[in-house]
Amino acid sequence: MKNIVLVGFMGTGKSAVGKRLSERLGRPFVDLDERIEREAGRPIREIFAAEGEPAFRKREAEAVRRAAALEGHVIAAGGGVMTDEENVRRLKKNGLLVCLTARAEVILRRTSASRFMRPLLTGPDPAGRIEQLLTLRAASYAKADLTVDTSDRSVDEVVDEVARTLH
Ligand code: S3P
Repeated sequence: MKNIVLVGFMGTGKSAVGKRLSERLGRPFVDLDERIEREAGRPIREIFAAEGEPAFRKREAEAVRRAAALEGHVIAAGGGVMTDEENVRRLKKNGLLVCLTARAEVILRRTSASRFMRPLLTGPDPAGRIEQLLTLRAASYAKADLTVDTSDRSVDEVVDEVARTLH
């Protein structure tokens, strides 16, 4: 059975939707960022600070490689996973890629309220950075098989739509 892989920008609800979707479908859930943190023994912001972004991307690619070999899982990927073509190719091989989206102002609100600090959004102008990254990454996210907007919806509403569409 194929994996369902949730991709998309930070703050679009991949982890929350993935967890709930896995419960709904009775499938195991894997959160790639959580795995990376567990294996590194420190949170992502510390990996970025101590090892730099390229080292984080290496860890991420390795986590993708292993997750792509799973069967029938729901997988939540970090927001940068789709920017690497090899990641996309691996995940697509045995997975259906569902891209969650949200309007930039919703992303700003959610990521500012989150207890998880996003190293890519810690500069002086997070709103501008979000716009910039969304533009840079638009073509990468467009490689997903399905796109679902989460802006004005609850986690359950998004799970309903994903489950209905995949059925
Ligand atoms: C990143 C997104 C984060 C995390 C890291 C880099 C990105 O995951 O992997 O901070 O490049 O967009 P979330 O999308 O779960 O916030």
